[in-house]
Amino acid sequence: MFWLAPFLLFQLQQPLDIPDKNPHTTAADIEQGKRLYMGRCAGCHGPSGDGGKGANLAVPTLPRAAADRSLYRIIRYGIPDTEMPGSLMDAKELWQTAAFVHSLGQVPSAPITGNAQAGAQVFKSKGACLNCHALGNEGGRIGPSLSGIGARRGAAHLKAKIVNPAADVPDQFRLVQLTTKAGKTMRGIRLNEDTYSIQLRDFSGNPQSFWKADITQLTEEKKTNMPAYQGKLTDTELNDLVAFLANEKGAQ
Ligand code: HEC
Ligand code: HEC
Repeated sequence: MFWLAPFLLFQLQQPLDIPDKNPHTTAADIEQGKRLYMGRCAGCHGPSGDGGKGANLAVPTLPRAAADRSLYRIIRYGIPDTEMPGSLMDAKELWQTAAFVHSLGQVPSAPITGNAQAGAQVFKSKGACLNCHALGNEGGRIGPSLSGIGARRGAAHLKAKIVNPAADVPDQFRLVQLTTKAGKTMRGIRLNEDTYSIQLRDFSGNPQSFWKADITQLTEEKKTNMPAYQGKLTDTELNDLVAFLANEKGAQ
């Protein structure tokens, strides 16, 4: 790992001289930034920045990157403990990407048509989302907390997730089935996995841990515990629900 040392030193030095204002904002810079963005960011944030797996970037002011410098830092270092990764680009490329991201906010994005207040009702009653999800202090923990979900995911992704949850299941919540050498079979939600062991939560909610050496068969199902709401909610209810979730920016 010693070969990493000069590289890490270079990384550590960088934050010291981040200018306040983006020094690369010409039309040619933005064009180059667009190319970088399409290759590295569009997969999560969408080609026009209106979100998906990543946050909506097509807004006039980014909540966590209002200043040029904070935008640069987020692109460079990512957001810890989230799916937003850091990027290994040189300073000029980082600024060019930032310039393009900034330009995304200048064009109006597709409006969210639903009624968020009506959506809150769908969330609590007909959708019964709190059975599995926490929001603020309420709700269950079979699924991830949805506090602040509107700041993490774009509206189109939220809608797709509710209609057909199996289309995009994060690794962390995959259903797995395993058989041990002793012949025991077990299904559960994967909590954690490393080279030697795997941890699941069984359907009674108890965590279980296994050594991989003791497992003869391990299959991962691309299934989710989240029910599909296709056909269970009307279009209006679905749009209202999405508006409610997109507005849920959490207590930040
Ligand atoms: C693997 C998916 C993924 C990739 C690739 C990705 N992002 Fe993100 N990004 C996210 C997610 C998810 C969030 C929201 C993180 C959270 O708060 O949970 C985010 C947040 C952000 C934010 C913060 C927005 C705010 O709230 O102020 C910015 C800016 C951003 N990303 C820019 C970029 C840029 C530019 C790139 C490409 C260099 C990029 N992202 C690549 C997933 C991704
Ligand atoms: C029976 C339990 C259950 C119910 C009911 C349920 N979900 Fe889920 N949901 C899950 C689980 C488990 C996951 C995590 C695995 C996955 O992403 O498929 C999840 C994931 C999600 C995600 C993705 C979260 C992220 O960080 O991207 C969203 C959004 C979501 N659910 C919204 C809803 C909404 C809205 C409702 C009500 C209409 C709902 N869920 C009802 C179990 C449930």
